[in-house]
Amino acid sequence: MPKGIAIKKWSDRPGFVVHLTITINRTLDQGTDDPEMETFYKRSIGFRGSLDDQAFVKAIPFEHSQQIDFPASLKPKRLLQRFQKRNICITGASSGIGEALARTLAGGPCTLVLMARNVARLEQLKMEWQFDQTEVIVLPIDLEDPASITSAARSMADRLPHLDWLFHVGGISQRGTAADTDFQVVQRIMQIDFLGAVQLTTECRALLNASEAPGIVVTSSMTGLFGFPYRSAYAAAKHALQGYFESMQLESASPYVCIVSPGSIRTDISFHALEPDGQENGKPDPRLEKGMTAQEAAKCILKGVARGKLNIYVGRSELLMIYFHRYLPFLFKWIAKRTPAK
Ligand SMILES: NC(=O)c1ccc[n+]([C@@H]2O[C@H](COP(=O)([O-])OP(=O)(O)OC[C@H]3O[C@@H](n4cnc5c(N)ncnc54)[C@H](OP(=O)(O)O)[C@@H]3O)[C@@H](O)[C@H]2O)c1
Repeated sequence: MPKGIAIKKWSDRPGFVVHLTITINRTLDQGTDDPEMETFYKRSIGFRGSLDDQAFVKAIPFEHSQQIDFPASLKPKRLLQRFQKRNICITGASSGIGEALARTLAGGPCTLVLMARNVARLEQLKMEWQFDQTEVIVLPIDLEDPASITSAARSMADRLPHLDWLFHVGGISQRGTAADTDFQVVQRIMQIDFLGAVQLTTECRALLNASEAPGIVVTSSMTGLFGFPYRSAYAAAKHALQGYFESMQLESASPYVCIVSPGSIRTDISFHALEPDGQENGKPDPRLEKGMTAQEAAKCILKGVARGKLNIYVGRSELLMIYFHRYLPFLFKWIAKRTPAK
């Protein structure tokens, strides 16, 4: 290993996800003699040259150190079997949970259709994932714009004979009381978090029906199970999602529909959450900072889906609120009312 590059590699469960911590000294001008590490590292930063190349140093997109999570070549069979040789569409793939889901599936024999507004970020991920067995297709979608949803669904139908998995992950949150929030903000959140997902589902109906075993995975929220302060429109949109997709679950066994309810996951969601006047919040949420990582959440979601679960709850101790709401409503209200606005 050359001076200036320190690589720590471990796995929290053998054969699942390998976490790499790479510490780089910017004066690095040599390569590594570990070809496995070289491939892993180049892939993680989307670099296509040789580590001996001076250009590599310039290509390092970060200053000191960064933890990179990516799927190991040895993944548990059960986890990935349901996704192998499948066409998988993920909305919200440019960040957070959606990106983590795509990152975990990338590397396996499948076609990944990545959707979001930030196409540059999706193209960057596609460049990173130069896997022989994975085809990555990038399609722009704005869930706020029905015409963009139609166009994304049509582009996907032009590229794929069938769709096996549709992961609805794209979404936006809220920060502000119901009393202060503009009606337009409520409309926007309902459109992005609820109507957008429903429209995409209906526009993908023919593609999904062409699959032998289609599946839809919907990202709701714990706030889809009960109301919560400063989240009125978000809770309403997630309740609507729960109602729509739970009804779908009861109507027919096909497509398989799974509803995911995350608690607090460490992502950028708080930065993009809408304030009462529609401005972005632009601030972190200390509660989320203590939450599960997006990669852990993705692992939990894929494990649950692989087992055929109809409901998946993802998070840590905050999930207790689901039980408090159901069995100890006084305690639930006491805690919820004391939640500070963030
Ligand atoms: N993090 C949590 O604690 C938590 C808890 C419960 C539920 N969830 C749910 O998990 C899902 C993913 O959130 P996250 O935590 O991963 O947040 P995130 O990091 O902010 O990711 C949100 C994703 O949604 C996409 N998106 C936002 N507005 C969009 C629009 N108008 N059209 C298309 N795509 C849009 C974003 O992509 P572009 O900006 O590129 O379009 C981004 O990829 C959301 O549905 C959220 O409600 C998260």
